[in-house]
Amino acid sequence: MSKFQKTNDFNEIVYGRRSIKVYDPTVKISREEMIEILEKASKAPSSINMQPWRFVVIDTEEGKEKLAPLSRFNKEKVLSSSAVIAVFGDKKNFDYAEEIYSNAVELGYMPQEVKDAQINAFTPYYANMSEDVMKDTIMLDAGLVSMQLMLVARAYGYDTNPIGGYEKDQIAESFGLEKDRYIPIMLLTIGKAANEGFQSYRLPVDTITEWR
Ligand SMILES: Cc1cc2nc3c(=O)[nH]c(=O)nc-3n(C[C@H](O)[C@H](O)[C@H](O)COP(=O)(O)O)c2cc1C
Repeated sequence: MSKFQKTNDFNEIVYGRRSIKVYDPTVKISREEMIEILEKASKAPSSINMQPWRFVVIDTEEGKEKLAPLSRFNKEKVLSSSAVIAVFGDKKNFDYAEEIYSNAVELGYMPQEVKDAQINAFTPYYANMSEDVMKDTIMLDAGLVSMQLMLVARAYGYDTNPIGGYEKDQIAESFGLEKDRYIPIMLLTIGKAANEGFQSYRLPVDTITEWR
């Protein structure tokens, strides 16, 4: 276990997770630790491994002051957290296909022929992909990385709150990203919980599942 990780207890990580609304504002997460958290989160799976997620880590006072007016009813979480991770999806994710697949070959994860076949098949497919399909793909993949990030944060002793209530039409440009390229997914506050938060009810498996 790394020097930053606090627990490997899966039940504690999963059952102990709650959306936390208020954090201890004195707690800072070092960039070294945050990088480790992001590295683990990005082990999440993605469509043809294009990893379309991009993160803007807002961990400075100036950054949080800029974000606060865009975060609607979520200002207290934003301002008390150690950081807010703005998750985006990159519409040009396929630009990284060559880098991803070449590295996989070089590291011995994939034979050259498989890389060539994949690149040949997916290049025209991605080039002709409709905006809607691209958006759906990105939203799905970025949702998975966001969930993984929330669980990794728990393993590192932090809590989170996913936030969908913010000015999505302004977030990219406010933080220096091209609005047409980067789709806003969600904000994730991260920090040391200042209270226990609230329990929340889950529908029984019976209601949400069909067996065939
Ligand atoms: C995509 C998404 C958007 C959310 N947006 C907000 C939000 O804007 N503000 C907020 O306080 N909670 C937000 N939540 C948190 C949910 O209210 C919370 O996850 C849910 O009530 C279940 O509670 P739990 O996370 O404590 O298990 C959001 C959750 C998700 C998954």
